[in-house]
Amino acid sequence: MNRIFKYSCYLILLFSCTKLTAQDIKWEAVGPGVWKGSIGKPESYNLLSASGATPAIEGLKSIGEAPFPLSKDEITAKLTDGKIYLRFPLDKKEQLYGFGLNFQTVHQRGKILQLHSDHFGGKDNGRTHAPTPFYVSSNGYGVFINSARYLNVYAGSAVKRDGANVPEAKDRNTDKSWSSRPYSDGVEILVPAEGVEFYVFGGPSSLNAIQRFNLWNGGGCLPPRWGLGFTQRVKTLFNSKDVEAEAQAFADKGFPLDYIGLEPGWQSKAYPCSFEWDQSRYPDPASFVKTMLNKGIRLNLWTNPYISPEAPFYKEIKPFTADHTVWLGAVPDLTMPEARKLMFGQLKKSQVDIGVSGYKFDEVDGYDHYLWPDVTLFPSGKSAEQMRQTYGLLIQRYSAEMYHDRNQRTYGLVRGSNGGGSSFPYVIYNDYYNHEDFITALINSGFAGVLWTPEARASKTGEEWLRRMQSVVFSPMAMINAWSSGTKPWSYPEVEKQVKDMAVLRMQMMPYWYSEFAKYHFQGIPPFRAMNLEPGYLSEVKKEVKSTNLEDNPYVEAVSKEVKDQYMAGESLLVAPMFAGKETRTVILPKGKWFDFYTGEFAGDGQVITVTPGLDKIPVYVKDGGIIPMGPALMHAAKSTEKLDLEFRYYGSKPGKYLLYDDDGETFNYEKGAYSFRTVTITKGADGKLKTSISAAEKGKPNTVNQVTFKAMTK
Ligand code: GAL
Repeated sequence: MNRIFKYSCYLILLFSCTKLTAQDIKWEAVGPGVWKGSIGKPESYNLLSASGATPAIEGLKSIGEAPFPLSKDEITAKLTDGKIYLRFPLDKKEQLYGFGLNFQTVHQRGKILQLHSDHFGGKDNGRTHAPTPFYVSSNGYGVFINSARYLNVYAGSAVKRDGANVPEAKDRNTDKSWSSRPYSDGVEILVPAEGVEFYVFGGPSSLNAIQRFNLWNGGGCLPPRWGLGFTQRVKTLFNSKDVEAEAQAFADKGFPLDYIGLEPGWQSKAYPCSFEWDQSRYPDPASFVKTMLNKGIRLNLWTNPYISPEAPFYKEIKPFTADHTVWLGAVPDLTMPEARKLMFGQLKKSQVDIGVSGYKFDEVDGYDHYLWPDVTLFPSGKSAEQMRQTYGLLIQRYSAEMYHDRNQRTYGLVRGSNGGGSSFPYVIYNDYYNHEDFITALINSGFAGVLWTPEARASKTGEEWLRRMQSVVFSPMAMINAWSSGTKPWSYPEVEKQVKDMAVLRMQMMPYWYSEFAKYHFQGIPPFRAMNLEPGYLSEVKKEVKSTNLEDNPYVEAVSKEVKDQYMAGESLLVAPMFAGKETRTVILPKGKWFDFYTGEFAGDGQVITVTPGLDKIPVYVKDGGIIPMGPALMHAAKSTEKLDLEFRYYGSKPGKYLLYDDDGETFNYEKGAYSFRTVTITKGADGKLKTSISAAEKGKPNTVNQVTFKAMTK
């Protein structure tokens, strides 16, 4: 008896120790500059297993090794109350970026967020279309929590009693420097699970950490060439004749067009969906798709994944669906091969096999009143919470696989994603429509391993329409989403010419966009990203936060002055969109010379400039030595067999080097080496003449380049 008593006491003691003591984190170096930490019993279903991402080791090797960027002793983890408490240290001046696709803020230090897959509800509180649990520090490292749970994040908002860098308590009665938000020296994350794995990505730069994150997720997506052309989504109840007429109108008006998106009306039932063509609107889908392809126009189909009881495969798929519905449609458990076979089998048979080029997967982000609740049971046993966090990943993964199996690239839209999804050929969009916030989302997409489109739908004025279209052509998907408005690019006659010039510019810049996406794929560099990642960039600092002691809490300064309306597009372009109602704006040019994209004139060097670009132009600046490859203004993206004349525009006077990417633009043969990066160099001699070179096209590799010319933009 006594022995049993003693033994139970020992067990109780042991148990409470495990509960209360900081656990040992198991560390493992898993790739160049990438470390995995794990604690407790990590769940086998997580963001990386849901996305099926395989690390792009070659890309990581080319960035090289890096030292562990933090002090391991300062990273702590505890298991308490069935949850993991994680803590990462913060320096006094360190800035934090990321934590998903935020719309209104770039700086995240000091934030409290619950990362939760959702539509964006007007506030950056963690509920968003891609709640990626990844953050990047201005000190040049990144942290990714590989969990498919709703995570509570205290991004430097809480102060520990016995912490190492705890500020002094102040008397609010008498001390003017008292702050309601005292300095915090840690990021703390609550993971509602008994174990978790997480990753630390080394630098040295913050961009390097992002590259490593994207490469760990398989590298960024490489769209087909046509995906970067122009796309129009038509009114929801359009029929095949309307769609053909729409394509004809683009051709007649001389507007470029690569793909048309059909909205819910192509299906016989929507919300929930039948996944079948509507016979009255599309009586002969196969010949319709063929006619469109012959005109050089591909088709993208809207759908949500919720299955109508009238869908042809409803009965068969029912056992593999959740016990709750969405709009009375069955929710397929996409973690189950049986469900996937039926669902994607239907898409393949009815649409992909007849030539449909891609999809727009709607409503996979969630909105609590529409989506399955957290008490839903899925037949695989995955929790409703895990399914919510990963549904966007699952639908992207398996639809992309369907195209990969055909050796055919796709490019489409999705409303929800998460960490692990960098390589998926999908762009996020939503129903919100604030132009400024759309640009902030574009900036933040680069921190979240996703792409975002600031789609244009309609506008109150011609001016607003033009301003939106100007942003759209400097984004991952040049799209008008006229599903409800029926707007065409030329719907505002007073700006029709300017809108056309922008669409044409997008097409001329194809060689640049395509090469920059290749760098996303092979090197992990986001094609659209924050200024904060640009060397020599310093945001203007003004002491605005009066109630805070800036001595104690310097990071607050930068947060109060964050810049969220200009961004980097590809290697050397700085884009500063104009918003309706504004004739002038300021642009922060990082250190080093910058030149006007259109004229080549010197614009400034490490300074804040004020510009009045006029209605026709969106301000764009090029780095010193920047080379922008330009092609002809085609009406459709070039086919794999077409050879184009290219003009390399060169800015400033610094020696320039550009890597021009080439492959067939349509298949996955690049995965087997059928691609090349050709090196272009330009220097300016003392006589002002250009010395230029371009490496030869590699034998046996696709070569879409014909004649090349070089142009000094800066006189
Ligand atoms: C919304 C989507 C829109 C449009 C619409 C069609 O959910 O965000 O872009 O596709 O559905 O009903």
